[in-house]
Amino acid sequence: MQQQDQTKDYFRVAAEDWHQKSKDGRSDYSALEGRRHAVLSAIDEIKDARRFLDVGCGSGQLVIAAAQRGLNAEGIDFASEMIELCEANRKEAGVEAEFTEGSFFDVDLKAGSYDIISAQGFIEYFSPDDMMLIFKRCFELLRPGGSLLVGSRNRLFNAVSFNAFTEVESELGILEALVNECIALHTSESQEAAFEALRAHERMDPHPDSHPATGVPVDVRYQYSPADLTGRLRSSGFTPTTLFPIYFHGLPGAIRKARPDLHFQLANAVAEFTLRDQRLTPFCSTFVLHVTK
Ligand SMILES: C[S@@+](CC[C@H](N)C(=O)[O-])C[C@H]1O[C@@H](n2cnc3c(N)ncnc32)[C@H](O)[C@@H]1O
Repeated sequence: MQQQDQTKDYFRVAAEDWHQKSKDGRSDYSALEGRRHAVLSAIDEIKDARRFLDVGCGSGQLVIAAAQRGLNAEGIDFASEMIELCEANRKEAGVEAEFTEGSFFDVDLKAGSYDIISAQGFIEYFSPDDMMLIFKRCFELLRPGGSLLVGSRNRLFNAVSFNAFTEVESELGILEALVNECIALHTSESQEAAFEALRAHERMDPHPDSHPATGVPVDVRYQYSPADLTGRLRSSGFTPTTLFPIYFHGLPGAIRKARPDLHFQLANAVAEFTLRDQRLTPFCSTFVLHVTK
């Protein structure tokens, strides 16, 4: 698994940087914080949840926040430097939580015992086939009715970013499919209507061998559209319930570069008021899907 080796090497070295990126209350916009906010908002609505697991937990903020809500919270990460940060952050927060160093596929976990599993910034570091194994394992680990919250880089955004990512999708011949899915989401007035509309667009898109630079030195970080991912999750036995658009990009790229202050203001303002408005999804670079077993 070359991609996983690269991922581990990178996160071992970059643990502290990711921790800084992930902190609450930054003056710019943090997609990591945005995803965490969506997961915590979903957790707050799940009745009688007790056991929570975060896979690829990074420096542990989500696990700590879940523990602060009274959940029995656990995190797994294969980068030892991340687990060290988790422990330091846990002590600083003064909560009980369990962190385990190891790969999600190797750590011994009890089937059917979790109420909620979260995977943020995680699936992009596996091939689509290996991602299906993650979904299978999550399904086994959850109790019936349990929730999986999975974050994904949003492939639909490539259709409206008008940059090198758009060109790659054009070369792969999937631009029209992405635009049609954007229309379906943009015109769906409720979450239920959106998931119904997405059914007609469920497909498995081809992936490029490499992509334009993303700032993370891993050759391929996979991206999915909501319909591609809901199709794969349905075939793994899950039912989608909520689509959270994360990190609104309201300005064209060139203007964003010239006026980052304005870009961050827009992203924060939109995040505050429209956490569950699926119509925003095409204009966001990330999304979180809540699905249930
Ligand atoms: C992009 S970071 C995301 C961290 C955190 N979930 C967040 O949203 O801030 C991805 C994390 O997944 C971990 N990871 C990747 N593959 C893994 C695997 N097979 N098992 C456990 N952790 C893994 C990496 O070490 C890294 O800390």
